[in-house]
Amino acid sequence: AAAEPRTPTGAVPSADDATTAQQGERLTTSQGARLRDTDHSLRAGARGPVLLQDHHLREKITHFDHERIPERVVHARGAAAHGVFESFGTAASVTCADFLAPGRRTEVFTRFSTVVGSRGSMDTARDTRGFATKFYTDEGTFDLVGNNIPVFFIQDAIKFPDVIHAAKPHPDREIPQAQSAHDTFWDFVSLHTEAQHHTIWFMADRGIPRSFRMMEGFGIHTFRLTNADGETSLVKFHWKPLLGVHSLTWEEAQMIGGTDPDFHRRDLADAIEAGAYPQWELGLQVLPDDPEQMFDGIDLLDPTKIIPEELVPVQRVGRLTLDHNPRNYFAETEQVAFHPGNLVPGIDVTDDPLLQGRLFSYLDTQITRLGGPNFAQLPINRAHAPVNDMLRDGYGQQADHAGVAPYRPNSLDGGCPFTAGADEHAFEDLPVRVAESVRERRNPESFSDHFTQPRMFWASMTDVEKAHIVSAYAFELGRCYETTIRERQLACLAQIDPELCRGVAEALGLPAPKSPDLPDVTPSPALSQVGGTWPVAG
Ligand code: HEM
Repeated sequence: AAAEPRTPTGAVPSADDATTAQQGERLTTSQGARLRDTDHSLRAGARGPVLLQDHHLREKITHFDHERIPERVVHARGAAAHGVFESFGTAASVTCADFLAPGRRTEVFTRFSTVVGSRGSMDTARDTRGFATKFYTDEGTFDLVGNNIPVFFIQDAIKFPDVIHAAKPHPDREIPQAQSAHDTFWDFVSLHTEAQHHTIWFMADRGIPRSFRMMEGFGIHTFRLTNADGETSLVKFHWKPLLGVHSLTWEEAQMIGGTDPDFHRRDLADAIEAGAYPQWELGLQVLPDDPEQMFDGIDLLDPTKIIPEELVPVQRVGRLTLDHNPRNYFAETEQVAFHPGNLVPGIDVTDDPLLQGRLFSYLDTQITRLGGPNFAQLPINRAHAPVNDMLRDGYGQQADHAGVAPYRPNSLDGGCPFTAGADEHAFEDLPVRVAESVRERRNPESFSDHFTQPRMFWASMTDVEKAHIVSAYAFELGRCYETTIRERQLACLAQIDPELCRGVAEALGLPAPKSPDLPDVTPSPALSQVGGTWPVAG
């Protein structure tokens, strides 16, 4: 058979499809009227002025003028791929989510991203990476919107605008574009010390991954699962790359950033095109749903804390394989809309105050970014389960809804019952206990230890990893203009570890503040990229 026509990137050209805009061979206006010429505007004589009546000219330029949409307010730069998730069935005892039942295969779309840089920034900047997966399940869409670092900067979503304002380029000079080497970033993390844990993770090699294919992913928050018997447990989600976790050295990241700013997106697309499909195993750390929601002194509602894998092993529940590239970057990678509130029966949220704020933010921002409230109808965002909602009209409406009564029950349109029956496996909000006293604007005491886990992270590193961490802090802090900010961050490092603090202080030419008496920590080998390689399932 004749080879399929391919674009230079290997994708099948979309004209093969009867998409709304590329039917037939002849060029037309958007109304389907055939065009004789698209290279010359209509003029009063060959050398005369252009006529306003040139509808084709106006349509072509007007459309072009409106081609750009706002980039994501965070995670603007990304690359994505389609794939499949195969369930091992091992999660069936903890969740009734159908896509985790034995033998299920679910189509997915995964988008990787940097957080801070703009859409045109370089891939190899030191930053956290987003790792968001849309599972198009038979019970509705489930989004796991995580990062490659298992903790977050802040504990409460109300600070999210603040940490992002601090991390984005300075408002006066709009620099630096995609690095954390600036005063406002270090000002924030040294004043809001809960950010120190996340910061040491991305000052380590995890901040400059070798490839999206070689990153872990984490759901970060604790989620609540329900099984078929209605029993609940608390879980953390983990993605483990079968290629292992690998990073660039700082020097490599800098050189590649200059010579190939698209390094990570090219790597992902090329690997898939070559048939070297990246794979991850999805794992769960399962904890009892005890009313305190604590484990070994760790508050499970605090997104700046991990549960060491040595204490609660990660159990494999399925495998993700990314096996085909998007055909059109804008239609798919740019227009995809993830939301941590896209849940399916068997998976629910907890009261983590960071997660609670996220539940509001994504839908809200996407109404602006994607031009109105109907972006769930875009092909990439359409559920693969049947949709029958009562949402109507609005900008960008694609549906031609039948009937006259978008309310339930009704006596005009067949009036289906208001709720699904219990046997229909509908999403159920789990009742949760709330505190007796409500309306409190303060953190619990259990959110107040900001240094023990960063110390555990440092203590778990090999010597080479430690040397990289010291150089990273020294480089990034060395770019700050304000000495007081460097000194305040050194004081934070002194509370993490004296050796770390001394190393950075020496490189900066500043005195090292004295560390207080620091309690011992037990290293967690899984935190090291050297010690923590995921054993591939036999
Ligand atoms: C986008 C992860 C916290 C607001 C994203 C994306 C990821 C992500 C991966 C990119 C999704 C994509 O590829 O399209 C996380 C994680 C968080 C976190 C793991 C903490 C555990 C927050 C918080 C807020 C927030 C606290 C706000 C209160 C946003 C917004 C976007 C975004 C507005 C852009 C969404 C869009 O335009 O489609 N986040 N995020 N995130 N995040 Fe978060």
